[in-house]
Amino acid sequence: MIDKHSRKINYLRVSVTDLCNLRCVYCMPAGGSELSERDEILSFEEILKIIKHGVSLGLNKIRLTGGEPLVRRDITSFIKQISDIEGINDIALTTNGINLKEHADALKKSGLSRLNISLDTMRADRFSDITRGGNIQDVFDGVEEVLKVGFTGTKMNTVIMRGQNDDEILDFVRYISERDIELRFIELMASGWKNMVDADRFIPSAEIMEKIQEIGELVPVKERVGGGPATIYRMKGSLGSIGFISAVSKPFCSTCNRLRLTSDGKLRSCLLSGGEVDIKNILRSSSLSEEELADKLTETFIKVTTMKPIVHSGENKAVMNQIGG
Ligand code: GTP
Ligand code: 5AD
Ligand code: SF4
Repeated sequence: MIDKHSRKINYLRVSVTDLCNLRCVYCMPAGGSELSERDEILSFEEILKIIKHGVSLGLNKIRLTGGEPLVRRDITSFIKQISDIEGINDIALTTNGINLKEHADALKKSGLSRLNISLDTMRADRFSDITRGGNIQDVFDGVEEVLKVGFTGTKMNTVIMRGQNDDEILDFVRYISERDIELRFIELMASGWKNMVDADRFIPSAEIMEKIQEIGELVPVKERVGGGPATIYRMKGSLGSIGFISAVSKPFCSTCNRLRLTSDGKLRSCLLSGGEVDIKNILRSSSLSEEELADKLTETFIKVTTMKPIVHSGENKAVMNQIGG
């Protein structure tokens, strides 16, 4: 699939649930978000149908997100079914790490290619504040287990916020200097939940880079795992690498290669702006023959691809836990 700005779409991010076992301050209101009814959530069978159709149109990379994907039951057997689809050569998962230790081995065996783990602080008290109650040890244990069972290409996602964790930038750099992890500092984005992201907390990547360069030179890295939105650097003597996702200060829309499938069955053109189509309604329409359904799915993928904006508006109406970040 090629969009009207000549971008090749090969990557589908699939949110498998809007449920989460944390309540990060920039993602969800304290009381949790309004959740979809159970039958509004796509079944694994329905998601597989959409993925298989997408593969026939050029998809080869899948990322599972949430909410928290590891809270959905039978997620590992679902991953196995995705990895059996011919044409998929990269299946990744983004997790908050809370249930990771217990799942790491099964995830490896399921055919999952790699993991991105979110962690915004190295300190237990702050972790509990930012996530409204999480236990940081669960995430540390998860990270060690992932490395132990042999995953490579593991990434860590860290959203830096002024006055909240910006004094820990170098702690993160030290943490990955002893681990084979790609650390990515993510710029705080506005949230679809009103007034949840305080603009004063935003820190541009350039400022974070400057801070890191006080302790060592950052050398740009060309080859990258998965071709995601980060720009990556290496520091001499560090086992890990350091990246920046600068969606706010330097939108990467011109190289965007992705569509999104929300947990309630909308095929979406962009995280932040652009349109979406209710693909669940099409799948569940009993009046369609197999052939008609296939035509409708193709039509939907193409329609959503053409809805991709050339550059996002920055005004975020995205509810992260449904769309999957
Ligand atoms: P890789 O393929 O491993 O590089 O994955 P990724 O970085 O695409 O996925 P991940 O789920 O780890 O997302 C990291 C951060 O990038 C999250 O904060 C996402 O919200 C953000 N992100 C991912 N895709 C997009 C996008 O298309 N637009 C914007 N604005 N942000 C995105
Ligand atoms: N700004 C930046 N990143 C966010 N994420 C969730 N909400 C936001 C936001 N408002 C990140 C999480 C996770 C990834 C899937 O999305 O920290 O790493
Ligand atoms: Fe859960 Fe991720 Fe949202 Fe945090 S950012 S509440 S871990 S979905």
